[in-house]
Amino acid sequence: MKPLRVDIITIFPDYFREAFDYGIIRRARGAGLVNIEAHDLRAWTSDKHKSVDDRPFGGGDGMVLKPEPIFAAVQSLAGGNRRERIAAGTRVALLSPQGRPFTQSLAAEFAANEQLVLICGRYEGVDERVSDALVTDEISIGDYVLSGGEPAALVVIDATVRLLPGALGSETSASNESFTDGLLDCPQYTRPPEFEGMRVPEVLLTGHHAEIARWRREAAEEKTKRNRPDLLK
Ligand code: ADE
Repeated sequence: MKPLRVDIITIFPDYFREAFDYGIIRRARGAGLVNIEAHDLRAWTSDKHKSVDDRPFGGGDGMVLKPEPIFAAVQSLAGGNRRERIAAGTRVALLSPQGRPFTQSLAAEFAANEQLVLICGRYEGVDERVSDALVTDEISIGDYVLSGGEPAALVVIDATVRLLPGALGSETSASNESFTDGLLDCPQYTRPPEFEGMRVPEVLLTGHHAEIARWRREAAEEKTKRNRPDLLK
C-alpha cells in the first residue's frame, strides 16, 4: 500500500515538531504507512512582509486569514486550486469551529484516501472563499473554540492514522472500540483485584467467557446511558 500523505498548512509549523514522534503514530510513520509534513503558510505569500492576514471587510475585531496564500498552498500541495480540480483520492479539509462534526466514520473515510491536506485556521477567521470554493471538507472537532486549527489537526491526524491498515497491533483492535458500534467501550480492569477497598467485578475473575461478554455489553450500555445518552437515541 502507498503511504497516506498528510500535508498540514499552518502559520506555526514548529507546533508539530515532535507531535508525531510517539506511540502508534510514530510506529505507523516508521512502518511507512504515513508521511506527515507541516508547511509554513508564509512560504506562499508574495509581499515583502509575508502577510497572511488582513482586516475584515465590513469592520469588526481581529484579523482574517487571506485567501491568496491558502489557495496557492493547496495548488502546490494538492495540484488544484478549486474543489472540483482536486484529485479523487485527496481530501482538503479546513479546521474551523463552523465545520461539520469530526467523527469516527469521517476518520475512517480520511484513512481510505491517498492524501489529506489540513488547513489550520487562525485569528478570528478564514476568508470564506476558502470554504466556498477550495476545500472538500470543513470540520470541527467539537463545540468549543480553540485559538487555532492546530490542535484540531493533531486530533484528526491521530484518529485517522491509527485506522490505517497495519497501524494497530492487531487488525481487529479498531473494530470493537468506542463509537464503532454506537456504544462507548466497556470498563476495563487489571491487577490488583482489590485496590484500596475497590474490588474488580467478580464475573471478570471467573473465566466464564459468555457471562463476561454479557457483563461487558451491559456495562457498556450503562456507561453510554450515563455519559452519552445522545448515542442511544
Ligand atoms: N478551530 C478553532 N476551534 C476549532 C474547533 N472546535 N474545531 C476545529 N478547528 C477549530
